[in-house]
Amino acid sequence: MGKDVIIACDFATAEQTFAFLDKFTEEKPFVKIGMELFYAEGPQIVREIKARGHKIFLDLKLHDIPNTVGKAMAVLSRLDVDICNLHAAGGIEMMKTAVQGLTRPDGSRPLLIAVTQLTSINQEKMEKELLIEKPLGEVVDQYALNAQQAGLDGVVCSPLEASRVHTVCGENFLTVTPGIRFADGAVGDQQRVTTPARAREIGSDFIVVGRPITGAEDPVAAYRKCTADFIK
Ligand code: C5P
Repeated sequence: MGKDVIIACDFATAEQTFAFLDKFTEEKPFVKIGMELFYAEGPQIVREIKARGHKIFLDLKLHDIPNTVGKAMAVLSRLDVDICNLHAAGGIEMMKTAVQGLTRPDGSRPLLIAVTQLTSINQEKMEKELLIEKPLGEVVDQYALNAQQAGLDGVVCSPLEASRVHTVCGENFLTVTPGIRFADGAVGDQQRVTTPARAREIGSDFIVVGRPITGAEDPVAAYRKCTADFIK
């Protein structure tokens, strides 16, 4: 799968989601379905978006004991999504079991990526609340290496960390990066942001873009600009 822009469809209902996707008459963007929409509408929303021809990143960030995550991944593998994810903080055994659970009888499986540290966590919170005293960058490197050792395909990280993850894990290890804004756009609650063009230069493989597209006056034009700037 080549570089692509993934639209974060952070909508509360199927109705809002389809009203948004209906605007795209010429292209079929890669979409991210997160917890809000999945918990509201259930697995059927995934089947319906897939049936419309979109690739899907199912962003449910699993984190539990290995057996539970492995069985949940086996269920998700039947939804035929393209990417799913979990928290690297669950440990290497959990991630290995997740890969096994996700693998279908024919040997195929969706890509599996790990959240390293959430972009809402900073150095201070990591030290004071989680009692992790290493520099954040080192923690991201170690979690990415753990994910790679477990057989995962990549990580979700800040675009600003994409280059160091590639240095540590190799160029083929995927970096999927949220926190994208146009140079003249509102930042909102994101702490560390960069533009689509800069994300391309740093080496992100996929950018996840929500409000700069979903909240734009002309979402299709915003998506096209993002794609042109990122993929070139
Ligand atoms: O609207 P915005 O472009 O900020 O949306 C970013 C998307 O990426 C949201 O769905 C958010 O939950 C997700 N995300 C993130 N940071 C992470 C992991 C996921 O912003 N570390």
